[in-house]
Amino acid sequence: MKLSTWLATGLVATVALATTAVVAQQDPIATRKDLMKANGRNAGVIVKMVKGEEAYDPAKVKAAFDQWDETASKFGALFPDSSKEGDTRALPAVWTERAKFDAAIAKFKKDVDDNRAKAMSGADGLKVALGAVGKNCGDCHEAFRKPQ
Ligand code: HEC
Repeated sequence: MKLSTWLATGLVATVALATTAVVAQQDPIATRKDLMKANGRNAGVIVKMVKGEEAYDPAKVKAAFDQWDETASKFGALFPDSSKEGDTRALPAVWTERAKFDAAIAKFKKDVDDNRAKAMSGADGLKVALGAVGKNCGDCHEAFRKPQ
């Protein structure tokens, strides 16, 4: 293993240990599902705006991007080993392919941050931004969430 890879892996493991210790005391499955439910609610509002079924509302756009950003920041810590089983649709791949899962979360956060200004610029920008951000939802679910 290259030194840089080794360092990066060690760093991620340390951070993961520190964060799981905190959330394991609460209910990580319920918490991560609540965050995702809010993701879904916000995506629904944005899709309506893009389709023209609802007027463009910068306050709601901002709220959606804020909430997605919050989800991306908190999500990774909500998958301790103890939460593999239970009332969850998370696939085992979350734990067996942890680096890929973390990369998917990081990409989601980056796309939310990179597209925020565009989304705030008006309805046309929002449409492009939704395409970029929304792709993350489907890609990650395909790889890491059980179909219903
Ligand atoms: C990095 C991966 C990832 C990204 C990005 C992601 N999700 Fe999810 N999502 C998951 C996983 C994993 C679950 C299953 C959680 C569980 O059941 O423990 C889930 C569950 C859900 C659920 C079901 C929640 C429930 O009530 O059980 C909804 C709705 C959802 N996601 C919407 C979204 C939307 C909308 C986006 C994009 C704006 C998004 N997700 C982005 C991984 C992701």
